[in-house]
Amino acid sequence: MPQQVLGVVAPGRNEPVRVETITVPDPGPGEAVVRVQACGVCHTDLHYKQGGIGDDFPYLLGHEAAGIVETVGEGVTDVAPGDFVILNWRAVCGQCRACLRGRPWYCFDTHNARQRMTLPDGTELSPALGIGAFAEKTLVHAGQCTKVDPGVAPAAAGLLGCGVMAGIGAALNTGNVGRGDTVAVIGCGGVGDAAIVGARLAGAAKIIAVDIDDRKLDTARAMGATHAVNSRDTDPVEAVRELTGGYGADVVIEAVGRPETYAQAFYARDLAGTVVLVGVPTPDMTIELPLLDVFGRGGALKSSWYGDCLPSRDFPMLVDLHRQGRIDLGAFVTETIGLGDVEKAFARMHEGDVLRSVVVL
Ligand code: APR
Ligand code: ZN
Ligand code: ZN
Repeated sequence: MPQQVLGVVAPGRNEPVRVETITVPDPGPGEAVVRVQACGVCHTDLHYKQGGIGDDFPYLLGHEAAGIVETVGEGVTDVAPGDFVILNWRAVCGQCRACLRGRPWYCFDTHNARQRMTLPDGTELSPALGIGAFAEKTLVHAGQCTKVDPGVAPAAAGLLGCGVMAGIGAALNTGNVGRGDTVAVIGCGGVGDAAIVGARLAGAAKIIAVDIDDRKLDTARAMGATHAVNSRDTDPVEAVRELTGGYGADVVIEAVGRPETYAQAFYARDLAGTVVLVGVPTPDMTIELPLLDVFGRGGALKSSWYGDCLPSRDFPMLVDLHRQGRIDLGAFVTETIGLGDVEKAFARMHEGDVLRSVVVL
């Protein structure tokens, strides 16, 4: 039987979000209905609301979520009712060229639920990143559900579904930070802080946090940064060089997504070092670099897409590390809120007051 539940809907471009009754169909073949327990508020949800991602309004927002599988459709074997799962926005196909070449994070045939959730008048909803988890229940492709140990607070676990995974993965998977490395992280919001946590986990010797906001630098220190540079009044390239014996960092992670911070990242790395771009630029942004500098400095310029994560590998591992006390996912949860508070959470996010507001159901 299709179910009526509450969900947070963005009705149109820049219109305030509303809590609406939505209809969640029974799961069809390969699908699952998940009872959402927690869902973080991410910039991407705000971008959906602003019309920056598409024009397929109304959107059902929310995509950083954890919950309990309620029912599964025909042919679903990897998860079962009662499983505690983290949702991911890339259920990879396993068959395309990227998947077969061992780079499933570039799979271009990812799966979402085929059926649509609807408003009472029958209007089909577009779920944010194919998830739509600011809702009591949501319909997803079963491949979007990764079973993890239930001994972790849902609010903390859900963050692995997007921003925290992006940051930790930028350090571990894309940057390949190794024991003894020096790492600089430019931009210390939720994603940058997660990169700091990843660098620390990898055994980095020095982790230099760079931000223009002292509040963010304090949090970055608490997350494991060994040094902090306020780039509002200091040249971060000079500062990173000074802190690394004149060389620059082995790995620089850019977690802002702007041309000037990308340029800083490029020059703050050591010769043959790696730059990881995890901040998402807008289509109009360009950067000019002297080709001789690209040639002469060597190394690697990489981008990190969803932390280059493989959910089935990375989510359970990071939940286990959290349970062992080796990382603290709870540190990213600034506040827990209700479904009716998402609009306020967007405002707080905009002010830079929070790492993550998390809707808890
Ligand atoms: N130099 C250094 N830091 C900056 C600069 C700058 N010029 N401009 C902004 N920042 C800092 C902010 O002070 C903030 O701490 O970058 C941080 C950005 O953090 P958030 O706004 O919380 O964003 P976050 O969720 O961490 O995402 C960062 O990664 O995945 C992408 O889409 C995401 O592009 C975004 C980026
Ligand atoms: Zn997100
Ligand atoms: Zn694929």
